[in-house]
Amino acid sequence: MDKSAPKAIHLKDYAPPPYLIDTVDLTFDLGEEVTRVRSSLQLRANPVRLPDGAPVPLVLDGQELKLVSLAIDGRTLEPAEYAIGPESLTIFDPPAAFALEVETELKPQENTSLEGLYRTSGNFCTQCEAEGFRKITYFLDRPDVMARYRTTITADALKYPVLLSNGNLVAASKMGHDGRHTVTWEDPFAKPCYLFALVAGVLVHVEDSYVTRSGRTVTLRIYVEPGNQDKCDHAMRSLKKSMAWDENVYGLEYDLDIFMIVAVGDFNMGAMENKGLNVFNTKYILARPESATDTDFLGVEAVVAHEYFHNWTGNRVTCRDWFQLSLKEGLTVFRDQEFSSDLNSRPVKRIADVQRLRAAQFPEDSGPMAHPIRPDSYIEINNFYTTTVYEKGAEVVRMIHTLLGAEGYRKGIDLYFERHDGQAVTCDDFVAAMEDATGKDLSQFRRWYSQAGTPELDISGEYDGHGRTYRLTVRQSCPPSPGQPVKQPYHIPLALGLLDPQGADIPLRLKTEDVPKGTSRVLDVTEAEQVFEFADVPAPPVPSLLRGFSAPVKLRMSYTDDDLTFLMANDSDAFNRWEAGQTLGTRLLLGLVEDRAAGRPLELSRGFLDALDKILNDPALDHAFAAQALTLPSEGYLGQQMPVIDVDGIHEVRGFARKAIAAHLRDDLLSTYRALGGNEPFAIDAAIGRRSLKNLALGYLMSLEDAEAVELCVGQFHNAHAMTDVIAALGLLNDTHLPQRDAALARFYETWKNEPLVVDKWFSIQAMSERPETLAEVRSLLNHPAFEIRNPNKVYALIGGFAGGNAVRFHDSSGAGYEFLADQVLTLNGLNPQVASRMVKLFARWRKYDDRRQAFMRAQLERIVGAPNLSPDVFEIASKSLQAA
Ligand code: TRP
Ligand code: ZN
Repeated sequence: MDKSAPKAIHLKDYAPPPYLIDTVDLTFDLGEEVTRVRSSLQLRANPVRLPDGAPVPLVLDGQELKLVSLAIDGRTLEPAEYAIGPESLTIFDPPAAFALEVETELKPQENTSLEGLYRTSGNFCTQCEAEGFRKITYFLDRPDVMARYRTTITADALKYPVLLSNGNLVAASKMGHDGRHTVTWEDPFAKPCYLFALVAGVLVHVEDSYVTRSGRTVTLRIYVEPGNQDKCDHAMRSLKKSMAWDENVYGLEYDLDIFMIVAVGDFNMGAMENKGLNVFNTKYILARPESATDTDFLGVEAVVAHEYFHNWTGNRVTCRDWFQLSLKEGLTVFRDQEFSSDLNSRPVKRIADVQRLRAAQFPEDSGPMAHPIRPDSYIEINNFYTTTVYEKGAEVVRMIHTLLGAEGYRKGIDLYFERHDGQAVTCDDFVAAMEDATGKDLSQFRRWYSQAGTPELDISGEYDGHGRTYRLTVRQSCPPSPGQPVKQPYHIPLALGLLDPQGADIPLRLKTEDVPKGTSRVLDVTEAEQVFEFADVPAPPVPSLLRGFSAPVKLRMSYTDDDLTFLMANDSDAFNRWEAGQTLGTRLLLGLVEDRAAGRPLELSRGFLDALDKILNDPALDHAFAAQALTLPSEGYLGQQMPVIDVDGIHEVRGFARKAIAAHLRDDLLSTYRALGGNEPFAIDAAIGRRSLKNLALGYLMSLEDAEAVELCVGQFHNAHAMTDVIAALGLLNDTHLPQRDAALARFYETWKNEPLVVDKWFSIQAMSERPETLAEVRSLLNHPAFEIRNPNKVYALIGGFAGGNAVRFHDSSGAGYEFLADQVLTLNGLNPQVASRMVKLFARWRKYDDRRQAFMRAQLERIVGAPNLSPDVFEIASKSLQAA
């Protein structure tokens, strides 16, 4: 392998910084050709590392910078006093405390990585997390160096009328003779440099205000490009709800006089929590019913909340080092999930979150990139903003909440803030606060932070009619992960109930207890094998296990099909009612995949059809929940259950089952569609559920492709007011060869060509079509005038939509899809390594496919690893994917 291959860095090598920075005074001179940055830092030796003061060399991080001048305490340094490396600036013999002045030049207009200072739609914008500040100036670019910032920005007053940075505006000049103006911002809170932000350009804003619980008035502003002011209402409402929720649920208030959000069209991720100046991907701000779907609206609400919540969980208390990323991300995702649950339907949100975890995190956790939520090492930190760190991290915080109870959890979090406000801390500090506040021993629980992989629970039950007891035997295991051949048992909260033959919950008394403790409770599973014995069980029960998905594990229990239909109909836990249907559906569909492979005729079980019939016709059911319960397990989820993924078999069998269900329930689906199909004015409330059930019905009906269904679908496409309904209809037409398909796509583009976020939908829909000609169409869409390879949203829509959202076409047995993806990865590698690395990840599961596909994918990965100028981002994913299983 290449000798210059980038090196891994390890958690065990962590050492505190030798120097600390107390204050940072930045001056930006923004220009079309060159941007000049002057930085004045107050530094001192860190007493923890250098108790006797200096000197050890001061090594500052810096990338792609041109050094203009360098001075200590006002004296320009001689060339012999420092050295410039490709990614650092070393000052050999600094004093124990000093002022450092560094002047550098950069070219933001050439920065396509969207990290550091870059241009988007003619404006200037920064993205510093995780290590982008080093592309702006030489600095100790690590989160345990926290400083107070003052930022002065000078720029052309006409081209850049709006100049923003963190904190409060403390000075602003009028335009001078040179046509330039200057502002100064000051942030009173010490922060790590990854939370620094600067935005400059032509922006308009909508403004509102919020009065905090203690009576302070906070100005709220959302900045967007002109023309988008009318798409900010929902984001603003979401922000105010987030502020109120954090006060009510966590007792946390906002701490500055102004909170600003800027929405930009070119952004690698969803959004960024810079102190007082969040920067968002437009996708998570702009929303109007005509142009955004219900999913988009919920996404805006959740991401606005997520970034706002970071103000305490991430900013006031930050991470000591990047191995601790889940300290802020897992906790903040848990907080935004709970916020959305409180605002909308809790079971529907939980189901959506678990689906996401299973669709993305479980595969990651059993593949070549598997890592603990607190990784031990990384080559490129940008590769570790993963679903494991975020979503599994949130599950780990949720389990602490479950084990401690709401009150205990709140005591723990209060202690965490009391101890660590203003500090950069570790996951272990978080767990310690939870323990110290409640007296609960979480030592074994800590394995969730250090071990990778999805644990498996094997549960069996045994009823004893004479003793009226029910014994549950619980076994846990966890498959090996890269670098972790053997796992120790986890501490797993197992929430459960027992249903009597009428479907009612039985009061739960363990044999060791005197009185029952409720009808739903949490057992502490800690051993590799453990037995729980329940007393006073009048008849053989059906257990409802892992209620609410109380731990991120895979559950195996030998239910009969009848047990599952019984749970679907009766479980008092809504999540488990849904889960029982998914378990049954998975079992039946995998059976059909086998039947198909063996050349047997396909037939869908009558009992399953009847159970679906009941759900569809249950007037008491929440519409959104019914839609989830009537959705078959996804192709991806079914594939995960197979030792070798049968892509074509799964696709065909799932299509067959959809048709069989549609044929069986046709009349009820039609009447459901008609009952819910009123083209009602848009609202973001119960109407979401009505739309999802209505469009589910339309989807089933369209699988029959009969004239009536097509007419409904085309009618909906043309007449619907809400984008949710337009997109649902277009998505269904998109899989057909009907003449109306091309006409609808053309009309959709004509209508929306000036709305980039809607054009993204147009790209992704086409990329996900199951039609055989899709790859050819995707290739030609790369040359469509609206496609821009430099824009991440476009890449995620078209290339990501195809390779990540279209299993049958991407995994076409010719291997053409693989070659296409590798071509795009290599192009993106030179432009935007973060985006390239997200695309190359789509190859990571190559070992799960048959020999022929494996050989094709491996060849493409080898081609990528052998390519010149590979970024560390792409190198890490591709090389780890190729490593021996
Ligand atoms: N911290 C951001 C969040 O809220 C994540 C993020 C935004 C990010 N932009 C990034 C991470 C760029 C790495 C690189 O989750
Ligand atoms: Zn976050």
